[in-house]
Amino acid sequence: MKRNIFFVLPIIFLSMSCRSVPDRYFSDSPRGSDIVLEKPQSKIDVDLMKAFELRKSTEEFSVKEVSIKELSTILWSANGINREDGKRTAPALFGMEVIRIYVLSNSGIYLYDAMQNTLLSRSTKDARKDVGSKRGGAGGTETASLVLLLTGDPSMIPDFMSKDMRLNAAYASAGTIGQNVYLIANALGLRTRLVGALSVEGVRGCLKLSKDEIPLYIMPLGYGK
Ligand SMILES: Cc1cc2nc3c(=O)[nH]c(=O)nc-3n(C[C@H](O)[C@H](O)[C@H](O)COP(=O)(O)O)c2cc1C
Repeated sequence: MKRNIFFVLPIIFLSMSCRSVPDRYFSDSPRGSDIVLEKPQSKIDVDLMKAFELRKSTEEFSVKEVSIKELSTILWSANGINREDGKRTAPALFGMEVIRIYVLSNSGIYLYDAMQNTLLSRSTKDARKDVGSKRGGAGGTETASLVLLLTGDPSMIPDFMSKDMRLNAAYASAGTIGQNVYLIANALGLRTRLVGALSVEGVRGCLKLSKDEIPLYIMPLGYGK
């Protein structure tokens, strides 16, 4: 009998530790609280050339929710810290991080904090339907599980560069982040679209931006239909 216990106990512990942790979703998260992100996936079974093959824009999204785990991997790939000196997966002019990534979800709006790997709660409002251009062309923003909002603050760039050049640099930086989002989202089987047709009033109405912070692009993110 004693021998049986020694045999059975390790098997029980092993099966308990192998049981996968259930996925977390925004709808399970209390509104108004910061969300600690998960460790991004360190490997996926899609090589780089296949990822380029898979990259595409989508404008029809299903209601299926994106999990916090999937989002953690997408945000890290978008502009997470990939080196010990704190530099990121996307290039930045003079190494200055002028782009902010907000996540708009059914439980509110969050700011991605790459250093803390955390989403900082910024509003409890579900603003996904408010940020696309009201004249149309917002590429499925209204139906996606999440919407990423990329904002930029060109005033952070030294002023020996002209105002136009600083603004161009902010858009270019957002573009590199957008491409990272496409590549990882499509490789994970998710869908997205880079959308310039946003509503500045809609964004400002639901989110307090700093004085020189400009909404640049929105990216609906979710599963395809
Ligand atoms: C700078 C930029 C702005 C864009 N703005 C919009 C937009 O406002 N609305 C939209 O539906 N798609 C927008 N797109 C996505 C393009 O329509 C899409 O990339 C194009 O149709 C090519 O399709 P593909 O990405 O599947 O190759 C934008 C793309 C870029 C690069």
